Amino acid sequence: MDITAGVGELTTQVVPPSRPVPTLADDVRELLLGSPRSLPPKYLYDEAGSDLFDQICRTKEYYVTRTEDALLTNVVGSVAATVRPATVFEFGSGMSRKTPQIIDACSRVGPLATYAAFDISPDALHAGGRALQARHPEIDVQLFVGDYTAGLDALPVPEGPRLFLFLGGTIGNFPETEGIRFLRDLAARMEPGDFLLMGADRIKDHQVLHDAYNDSEGLTAAFNQNVLRVLNARLGADFEPEAFRHDAIYSEQRSQIEMRLVATQPQTVTIGRLDEQVRFAPGESILTEVSRKFSRESLEHLVRSAGFRLHRHYTPDNQYFSLVLAGFEGSAAR
Ligand code: SAH
Ligand code: AVI
Repeated sequence: MDITAGVGELTTQVVPPSRPVPTLADDVRELLLGSPRSLPPKYLYDEAGSDLFDQICRTKEYYVTRTEDALLTNVVGSVAATVRPATVFEFGSGMSRKTPQIIDACSRVGPLATYAAFDISPDALHAGGRALQARHPEIDVQLFVGDYTAGLDALPVPEGPRLFLFLGGTIGNFPETEGIRFLRDLAARMEPGDFLLMGADRIKDHQVLHDAYNDSEGLTAAFNQNVLRVLNARLGADFEPEAFRHDAIYSEQRSQIEMRLVATQPQTVTIGRLDEQVRFAPGESILTEVSRKFSRESLEHLVRSAGFRLHRHYTPDNQYFSLVLAGFEGSAAR
Protein backbone atom coordinates (compact mmCIF):
# COMPACT_ATOMS: atom_id res chain seq x y z
CA MET A 1 0.00 0.00 0.00
CA ASP A 2 1.39 3.42 -0.95
CA ILE A 3 1.74 6.17 1.57
CA THR A 4 0.93 9.23 -0.45
CA ALA A 5 1.16 12.31 1.63
CA GLY A 6 1.86 13.49 5.11
CA VAL A 7 -0.71 15.88 6.58
CA GLY A 8 0.83 17.22 9.74
CA GLU A 9 1.32 13.98 11.60
CA LEU A 10 -1.38 12.29 9.54
CA THR A 11 -0.60 10.17 6.52
CA THR A 12 -2.96 8.92 3.89
CA GLN A 13 -2.68 5.41 2.57
CA VAL A 14 -3.95 4.53 -0.88
CA VAL A 15 -6.09 1.39 -0.88
CA PRO A 16 -5.59 -0.54 -4.13
CA PRO A 17 -8.67 -2.04 -5.78
CA SER A 18 -9.18 -5.71 -5.02
CA ARG A 19 -11.36 -6.27 -8.05
CA PRO A 20 -11.21 -4.60 -11.48
CA VAL A 21 -13.00 -1.26 -11.50
CA PRO A 22 -13.64 0.83 -14.60
CA THR A 23 -11.54 3.96 -14.99
CA LEU A 24 -13.23 7.33 -15.59
CA ALA A 25 -12.50 6.85 -19.31
CA ASP A 26 -14.17 3.39 -19.23
CA ASP A 27 -17.22 4.79 -17.40
CA VAL A 28 -17.55 7.67 -19.86
CA ARG A 29 -17.31 5.37 -22.87
CA GLU A 30 -19.69 2.80 -21.42
CA LEU A 31 -22.21 4.94 -19.53
CA LEU A 32 -22.05 8.55 -20.71
CA LEU A 33 -21.75 7.62 -24.38
CA GLY A 34 -24.29 4.80 -23.90
CA SER A 35 -28.04 4.94 -23.73
CA PRO A 36 -29.60 6.02 -21.44
CA ARG A 37 -26.71 8.28 -20.44
CA SER A 38 -25.39 8.10 -16.88
CA LEU A 39 -22.30 8.54 -14.69
CA PRO A 40 -21.40 6.86 -11.38
CA PRO A 41 -21.96 9.28 -8.46
CA LYS A 42 -18.40 8.93 -7.12
CA TYR A 43 -17.19 11.50 -9.70
CA LEU A 44 -19.28 14.19 -7.97
CA TYR A 45 -16.73 14.36 -5.14
CA ASP A 46 -13.64 16.20 -6.36
CA GLU A 47 -12.45 18.99 -4.05
CA ALA A 48 -15.11 21.45 -5.26
CA GLY A 49 -17.84 18.79 -5.18
CA SER A 50 -16.98 17.74 -1.62
CA ASP A 51 -17.09 21.37 -0.58
CA LEU A 52 -20.47 21.88 -2.27
CA PHE A 53 -21.83 18.76 -0.58
CA ASP A 54 -20.69 20.17 2.75
CA GLN A 55 -22.64 23.37 2.00
CA ILE A 56 -25.73 21.39 0.92
CA CYS A 57 -25.72 19.77 4.37
CA ARG A 58 -26.32 23.20 5.92
CA THR A 59 -29.21 24.29 3.66
CA LYS A 60 -32.62 24.63 5.24
CA GLU A 61 -34.11 22.12 2.80
CA TYR A 62 -31.58 19.29 3.28
CA TYR A 63 -33.06 17.78 6.44
CA VAL A 64 -30.89 14.63 6.05
CA THR A 65 -27.74 15.77 7.89
CA ARG A 66 -29.56 17.62 10.67
CA THR A 67 -31.89 14.69 11.28
CA GLU A 68 -29.12 12.10 11.42
CA ASP A 69 -26.97 14.33 13.63
CA ALA A 70 -29.80 14.80 16.14
CA LEU A 71 -30.62 11.09 16.10
CA LEU A 72 -26.96 10.30 16.74
CA THR A 73 -26.97 12.60 19.76
CA ASN A 74 -29.76 10.47 21.23
CA VAL A 75 -28.27 7.07 20.46
CA VAL A 76 -24.47 7.30 20.63
CA GLY A 77 -24.46 6.42 24.34
CA SER A 78 -26.40 3.22 23.71
CA VAL A 79 -24.29 2.34 20.64
CA ALA A 80 -21.01 2.94 22.50
CA ALA A 81 -22.14 0.85 25.49
CA THR A 82 -23.13 -2.02 23.19
CA VAL A 83 -20.00 -2.10 21.04
CA ARG A 84 -17.25 -0.72 23.34
CA PRO A 85 -15.02 -0.42 20.27
CA ALA A 86 -11.23 -0.30 20.18
CA THR A 87 -11.55 0.95 16.58
CA VAL A 88 -14.09 3.14 14.84
CA PHE A 89 -13.81 2.68 11.06
CA GLU A 90 -15.83 5.02 8.86
CA PHE A 91 -16.63 4.56 5.18
CA GLY A 92 -17.51 7.52 2.94
CA SER A 93 -16.53 9.70 5.88
CA GLY A 94 -16.35 12.95 3.90
CA MET A 95 -15.41 15.66 6.38
CA SER A 96 -16.42 13.43 9.33
CA ARG A 97 -18.65 16.22 10.64
CA LYS A 98 -20.99 13.94 12.59
CA THR A 99 -18.23 11.64 13.80
CA PRO A 100 -16.88 13.60 16.81
CA GLN A 101 -19.94 12.87 18.96
CA ILE A 102 -19.55 9.14 18.20
CA ILE A 103 -15.84 9.21 19.06
CA ASP A 104 -16.57 11.18 22.25
CA ALA A 105 -19.17 8.62 23.35
CA CYS A 106 -16.93 5.65 22.57
CA SER A 107 -14.00 7.24 24.43
CA ARG A 108 -16.22 7.69 27.48
CA VAL A 109 -17.03 3.97 27.79
CA GLY A 110 -13.53 2.60 27.27
CA PRO A 111 -10.19 3.09 25.59
CA LEU A 112 -10.75 3.89 21.92
CA ALA A 113 -7.39 3.31 20.21
CA THR A 114 -8.04 4.06 16.55
CA TYR A 115 -10.25 6.11 14.26
CA ALA A 116 -9.87 5.07 10.62
CA ALA A 117 -11.62 6.74 7.68
CA PHE A 118 -11.94 5.63 4.08
CA ASP A 119 -13.08 7.99 1.32
CA ILE A 120 -12.49 8.65 -2.36
CA SER A 121 -11.96 12.36 -1.73
CA PRO A 122 -8.53 13.05 -0.17
CA ASP A 123 -9.40 16.67 0.57
CA ALA A 124 -12.50 15.86 2.60
CA LEU A 125 -10.67 12.99 4.29
CA HIS A 126 -7.79 15.24 5.42
CA ALA A 127 -10.15 17.94 6.70
CA GLY A 128 -12.11 15.42 8.78
CA GLY A 129 -9.01 13.58 9.99
CA ARG A 130 -7.26 16.79 11.10
CA ALA A 131 -10.28 17.98 13.07
CA LEU A 132 -10.64 14.65 14.85
CA GLN A 133 -6.95 14.41 15.63
CA ALA A 134 -7.01 17.91 17.14
CA ARG A 135 -9.99 16.97 19.32
CA HIS A 136 -8.57 13.58 20.33
CA PRO A 137 -4.75 13.67 20.24
CA GLU A 138 -4.67 10.37 22.15
CA ILE A 139 -6.34 8.46 19.28
CA ASP A 140 -4.46 7.01 16.31
CA VAL A 141 -6.15 8.57 13.27
CA GLN A 142 -5.63 6.57 10.07
CA LEU A 143 -6.75 7.83 6.65
CA PHE A 144 -7.37 5.60 3.65
CA VAL A 145 -8.15 6.91 0.19
CA GLY A 146 -9.76 4.67 -2.39
CA ASP A 147 -12.93 3.42 -4.00
CA TYR A 148 -15.12 1.33 -1.73
CA THR A 149 -16.87 -0.23 -4.72
CA ALA A 150 -13.54 -1.80 -5.70
CA GLY A 151 -13.54 -4.34 -2.90
CA LEU A 152 -12.03 -4.10 0.56
CA ASP A 153 -9.55 -7.00 0.59
CA ALA A 154 -6.54 -4.67 0.69
CA LEU A 155 -7.92 -2.64 3.57
CA PRO A 156 -6.14 -3.12 6.90
CA VAL A 157 -8.57 -3.43 9.81
CA PRO A 158 -7.11 -2.34 13.15
CA GLU A 159 -7.78 -4.18 16.38
CA GLY A 160 -11.31 -5.06 17.52
CA PRO A 161 -13.92 -4.78 18.65
CA ARG A 162 -14.70 -2.49 15.75
CA LEU A 163 -17.56 -0.13 15.07
CA PHE A 164 -17.94 0.42 11.33
CA LEU A 165 -19.79 3.57 10.31
CA PHE A 166 -21.58 4.23 7.03
CA LEU A 167 -23.50 7.43 7.61
CA GLY A 168 -25.39 10.08 5.68
CA GLY A 169 -27.68 7.72 3.80
CA THR A 170 -24.89 7.04 1.29
CA ILE A 171 -26.06 3.41 1.00
CA GLY A 172 -28.97 4.94 -0.97
CA ASN A 173 -26.57 6.10 -3.67
CA PHE A 174 -25.94 2.45 -4.64
CA PRO A 175 -28.30 0.51 -6.88
CA GLU A 176 -29.75 -2.37 -4.86
CA THR A 177 -27.41 -5.18 -5.94
CA GLU A 178 -24.30 -2.99 -5.62
CA GLY A 179 -25.39 -1.93 -2.15
CA ILE A 180 -25.70 -5.54 -1.07
CA ARG A 181 -22.31 -6.31 -2.58
CA PHE A 182 -20.67 -3.44 -0.70
CA LEU A 183 -22.28 -4.51 2.59
CA ARG A 184 -21.17 -8.11 1.99
CA ASP A 185 -17.60 -6.90 1.33
CA LEU A 186 -17.81 -5.06 4.61
CA ALA A 187 -19.25 -8.06 6.46
CA ALA A 188 -16.30 -10.10 5.22
CA ARG A 189 -13.95 -7.72 7.08
CA MET A 190 -15.89 -8.18 10.33
CA GLU A 191 -15.53 -10.59 13.22
CA PRO A 192 -17.92 -11.55 16.00
CA GLY A 193 -18.23 -8.56 18.32
CA ASP A 194 -17.89 -6.02 15.47
CA PHE A 195 -20.88 -3.85 14.54
CA LEU A 196 -22.02 -1.65 11.67
CA LEU A 197 -23.88 1.60 12.35
CA MET A 198 -25.49 2.67 9.08
CA GLY A 199 -27.68 5.66 8.27
CA ALA A 200 -30.44 5.47 5.66
CA ASP A 201 -32.96 8.01 4.47
CA ARG A 202 -36.66 7.13 4.70
CA ILE A 203 -39.59 7.49 2.33
CA LYS A 204 -41.56 10.59 3.33
CA ASP A 205 -43.69 13.45 2.04
CA HIS A 206 -42.75 13.94 -1.60
CA GLN A 207 -42.50 17.71 -1.35
CA VAL A 208 -40.00 17.43 1.52
CA LEU A 209 -37.92 15.01 -0.57
CA HIS A 210 -38.15 17.20 -3.65
CA ASP A 211 -37.12 20.36 -1.82
CA ALA A 212 -34.10 18.65 -0.22
CA TYR A 213 -32.64 18.02 -3.68
CA ASN A 214 -33.74 21.38 -5.14
CA ASP A 215 -32.48 23.83 -2.51
CA SER A 216 -33.26 27.51 -2.98
CA GLU A 217 -29.57 28.53 -2.90
CA GLY A 218 -28.87 26.39 -5.98
CA LEU A 219 -26.12 24.44 -4.21
CA THR A 220 -27.42 21.02 -5.29
CA ALA A 221 -27.61 22.31 -8.86
CA ALA A 222 -23.99 23.49 -8.62
CA PHE A 223 -22.95 20.14 -7.09
CA ASN A 224 -24.60 18.33 -9.99
CA GLN A 225 -23.16 20.58 -12.73
CA ASN A 226 -19.71 20.32 -11.16
CA VAL A 227 -19.37 16.74 -12.42
CA LEU A 228 -19.04 18.20 -15.93
CA ARG A 229 -16.10 20.30 -14.70
CA VAL A 230 -14.55 17.06 -13.43
CA LEU A 231 -14.85 15.61 -16.95
CA ASN A 232 -13.37 18.78 -18.43
CA ALA A 233 -10.39 18.69 -16.05
CA ARG A 234 -9.68 14.98 -16.17
CA LEU A 235 -10.54 14.11 -19.75
CA GLY A 236 -9.94 17.40 -21.57
CA ALA A 237 -13.66 17.72 -22.38
CA ASP A 238 -15.34 21.03 -23.23
CA PHE A 239 -18.70 20.73 -21.46
CA GLU A 240 -20.41 24.02 -20.65
CA PRO A 241 -21.99 23.20 -17.27
CA GLU A 242 -24.45 26.12 -17.60
CA ALA A 243 -25.84 24.54 -20.78
CA PHE A 244 -27.21 21.73 -18.60
CA ARG A 245 -30.11 22.20 -16.18
CA HIS A 246 -30.23 20.48 -12.77
CA ASP A 247 -33.16 18.11 -12.47
CA ALA A 248 -33.95 16.10 -9.32
CA ILE A 249 -37.27 14.31 -9.10
CA TYR A 250 -38.67 11.72 -6.73
CA SER A 251 -39.79 8.53 -8.42
CA GLU A 252 -42.52 7.03 -6.28
CA GLN A 253 -42.34 3.82 -8.28
CA ARG A 254 -38.64 3.30 -7.57
CA SER A 255 -38.60 5.08 -4.15
CA GLN A 256 -35.64 7.20 -5.16
CA ILE A 257 -34.55 10.69 -6.05
CA GLU A 258 -33.12 10.69 -9.56
CA MET A 259 -30.69 13.50 -10.24
CA ARG A 260 -29.99 14.39 -13.84
CA LEU A 261 -28.33 17.04 -15.98
CA VAL A 262 -30.58 18.02 -18.86
CA ALA A 263 -29.25 19.69 -22.02
CA THR A 264 -31.01 23.02 -22.49
CA GLN A 265 -29.93 23.43 -26.12
CA PRO A 266 -28.49 21.29 -28.91
CA GLN A 267 -24.76 20.89 -28.38
CA THR A 268 -21.75 18.85 -29.39
CA VAL A 269 -19.16 18.19 -26.72
CA THR A 270 -15.62 17.06 -27.46
CA ILE A 271 -13.90 14.74 -25.01
CA GLY A 272 -10.32 15.46 -26.06
CA ARG A 273 -8.47 12.70 -24.24
CA LEU A 274 -10.87 10.04 -25.51
CA ASP A 275 -10.96 11.41 -29.03
CA GLU A 276 -14.76 11.33 -28.85
CA GLN A 277 -17.56 13.73 -29.66
CA VAL A 278 -20.99 13.51 -28.10
CA ARG A 279 -24.13 15.24 -29.35
CA PHE A 280 -26.91 16.28 -27.03
CA ALA A 281 -30.40 17.09 -28.26
CA PRO A 282 -32.35 19.61 -26.14
CA GLY A 283 -33.96 17.73 -23.24
CA GLU A 284 -31.47 14.87 -23.43
CA SER A 285 -30.18 13.99 -19.98
CA ILE A 286 -27.40 12.31 -17.98
CA LEU A 287 -28.38 10.43 -14.80
CA THR A 288 -25.73 11.55 -12.28
CA GLU A 289 -27.06 10.06 -9.02
CA VAL A 290 -29.87 8.08 -7.49
CA SER A 291 -30.67 8.49 -3.80
CA ARG A 292 -32.82 5.60 -2.62
CA LYS A 293 -35.32 6.09 0.17
CA PHE A 294 -36.24 3.19 2.42
CA SER A 295 -39.19 1.94 4.39
CA ARG A 296 -38.43 0.34 7.75
CA GLU A 297 -39.00 -3.05 6.10
CA SER A 298 -36.91 -2.46 2.95
CA LEU A 299 -33.99 -1.21 5.04
CA GLU A 300 -34.10 -4.18 7.41
CA HIS A 301 -34.38 -6.50 4.41
CA LEU A 302 -31.26 -4.94 2.85
CA VAL A 303 -29.26 -5.33 6.05
CA ARG A 304 -30.28 -8.96 6.49
CA SER A 305 -29.73 -9.78 2.78
CA ALA A 306 -26.12 -8.72 3.21
CA GLY A 307 -25.68 -11.24 6.03
CA PHE A 308 -25.99 -8.96 9.06
CA ARG A 309 -27.97 -9.55 12.24
CA LEU A 310 -30.05 -6.49 13.03
CA HIS A 311 -29.39 -5.41 16.60
CA ARG A 312 -31.23 -2.06 16.89
CA HIS A 313 -33.20 0.18 14.55
CA TYR A 314 -33.24 3.80 15.71
CA THR A 315 -35.53 6.43 14.16
CA PRO A 316 -36.88 9.80 15.32
CA ASP A 317 -40.61 10.40 15.91
CA ASN A 318 -41.12 11.75 12.39
CA GLN A 319 -39.32 8.68 10.93
CA TYR A 320 -37.40 10.89 8.52
CA PHE A 321 -34.20 8.88 8.84
CA SER A 322 -32.98 5.58 10.28
CA LEU A 323 -29.81 4.38 11.95
CA VAL A 324 -29.40 0.63 12.10
CA LEU A 325 -26.93 -1.10 14.37
CA ALA A 326 -26.10 -4.50 12.94
CA GLY A 327 -23.74 -7.25 14.01
CA PHE A 328 -22.02 -9.93 12.05
CA GLU A 329 -21.68 -13.31 13.63
CA GLY A 330 -20.44 -15.45 10.76
CA SER A 331 -16.89 -16.73 10.61
CA ALA A 332 -15.84 -14.36 7.86
CA ALA A 333 -12.48 -15.10 6.26
CA ARG A 334 -10.07 -12.21 6.79
N1 SAH B 1 -20.55 10.56 5.66
C1 SAH B 1 -20.62 11.97 5.34
C2 SAH B 1 -20.40 12.24 3.85
C3 SAH B 1 -21.47 11.68 2.93
S1 SAH B 1 -21.20 12.21 1.26
C4 SAH B 1 -21.95 12.52 5.79
O1 SAH B 1 -22.76 11.75 6.28
O2 SAH B 1 -22.19 13.73 5.65
C5 SAH B 1 -20.66 10.71 0.52
C6 SAH B 1 -19.17 10.48 0.77
O3 SAH B 1 -18.82 9.24 0.16
C7 SAH B 1 -18.28 11.54 0.17
O4 SAH B 1 -17.34 11.97 1.09
C8 SAH B 1 -17.62 10.85 -1.03
O5 SAH B 1 -16.32 11.33 -1.30
C9 SAH B 1 -17.63 9.40 -0.58
N2 SAH B 1 -17.67 8.45 -1.69
C10 SAH B 1 -18.55 8.47 -2.73
N3 SAH B 1 -18.31 7.41 -3.55
C11 SAH B 1 -17.25 6.75 -3.02
C12 SAH B 1 -16.53 5.58 -3.40
N4 SAH B 1 -16.87 4.89 -4.50
N5 SAH B 1 -15.50 5.15 -2.61
C13 SAH B 1 -15.17 5.85 -1.48
N6 SAH B 1 -15.82 6.96 -1.07
C14 SAH B 1 -16.85 7.41 -1.82
C1 AVI C 1 -24.20 11.49 0.08
N1 AVI C 1 -25.60 11.25 -0.25
C2 AVI C 1 -26.26 10.47 0.82
C3 AVI C 1 -26.34 12.45 -0.62
C4 AVI C 1 -27.83 12.10 -0.88
O1 AVI C 1 -28.68 12.74 -0.28
O2 AVI C 1 -28.09 11.16 -1.63
C5 AVI C 1 -25.76 13.13 -1.85
C6 AVI C 1 -26.57 14.28 -2.32
N2 AVI C 1 -26.95 14.47 -3.56
C7 AVI C 1 -27.64 15.58 -3.65
N3 AVI C 1 -27.72 16.13 -2.44
C8 AVI C 1 -27.05 15.33 -1.60
